[in-house]
Amino acid sequence: MKKTILTLLSITLITLGGLVQAKPITLKFSHVVAENTPKGQMAIKFKQLVDERLKDKVTVEVFPNSQLFGDNKVLEALLLGDVQLAAPSLSKFKKYTKKLQLFDLPFLFNDMTAAEKFQQSPQGHALLKTVENKGLTGLGYLHNGMKQISASKPLHTPEDAKGLKFRIMSSDVLAKQFEALDATPLKKPFSEVFTLLQTKAIDGQENTWSNIRSKKFYEVQPYITASNHGLLDYMVVSSAEFWNGLPDDIRSELKKALDEAIAFGNQIAAEKAMNDKQAIIDSKRTTVIELSPEERQQWVDAMKPVWKDFEGIIGKDMLDAAIKANQP
Ligand code: SIN
Repeated sequence: MKKTILTLLSITLITLGGLVQAKPITLKFSHVVAENTPKGQMAIKFKQLVDERLKDKVTVEVFPNSQLFGDNKVLEALLLGDVQLAAPSLSKFKKYTKKLQLFDLPFLFNDMTAAEKFQQSPQGHALLKTVENKGLTGLGYLHNGMKQISASKPLHTPEDAKGLKFRIMSSDVLAKQFEALDATPLKKPFSEVFTLLQTKAIDGQENTWSNIRSKKFYEVQPYITASNHGLLDYMVVSSAEFWNGLPDDIRSELKKALDEAIAFGNQIAAEKAMNDKQAIIDSKRTTVIELSPEERQQWVDAMKPVWKDFEGIIGKDMLDAAIKANQP
């Protein structure tokens, strides 16, 4: 009798055990921009794809607008396991690799086609791996676009920027770029830029049309110079511990979804660069300054000498490969 009761009990437990579902993997994706930006849309798309394809196995939670972590903290948070996915700007990896400084060099890429061509080249792929020995896994590049310079006064030539204070991302190349104009660069988190501009604690900043529009910088900056002088793109990253610890089938499904979401984000980036510029012009809250070829050349001449300070760290081969991507 005792034996029968024990057997029944173990059968019940086994049956119940079969019914208990494995807990889904939670993947927190933290970023600093608004939802209506290339990165914001890419994150939402990724969540949708994972919801459809890995329902009950993986849950994606997206935290935009620096809700969870600002850009100076998110990579540490990844390594601590507090978030599992992030896509900081390529300018924000200085603590993890100096090689990505390449992407900050002023007037390196003529346009987004060249940036894409280089990122998809063997050298571009090699740069994704430069964060590996710091415990990060680079999963792909995502575009935002070319940067413009906004300011409290009209900037037609580099001379006009002299003495002004500009907020920059945490990049030494960007610091040197503004120092080359005899301006003062200030490394500040993205979440503080609007207030710094509004309170006139700084005179200007550099950013893409989509960030200038979505964060309303154009409402507190009377002038924007359409300089297209540099690139603002992202690296989508996870921690090696999390990414390599995933079951193989889940990791490959997630990578597939990520690649599709990145392609979607890149398409949005191309559309937004044009639409957001026009919307800013139409708002009449600011004046967009178009440079003549002669004026533009003056910016190139003032900023480009910065390259020589970083060539040794970045590597001549890498630099040459990036320059070559400008060829049709
Ligand atoms: C971002 O696009 O993620 C932020 C860019 C910035 O810090 O200016």
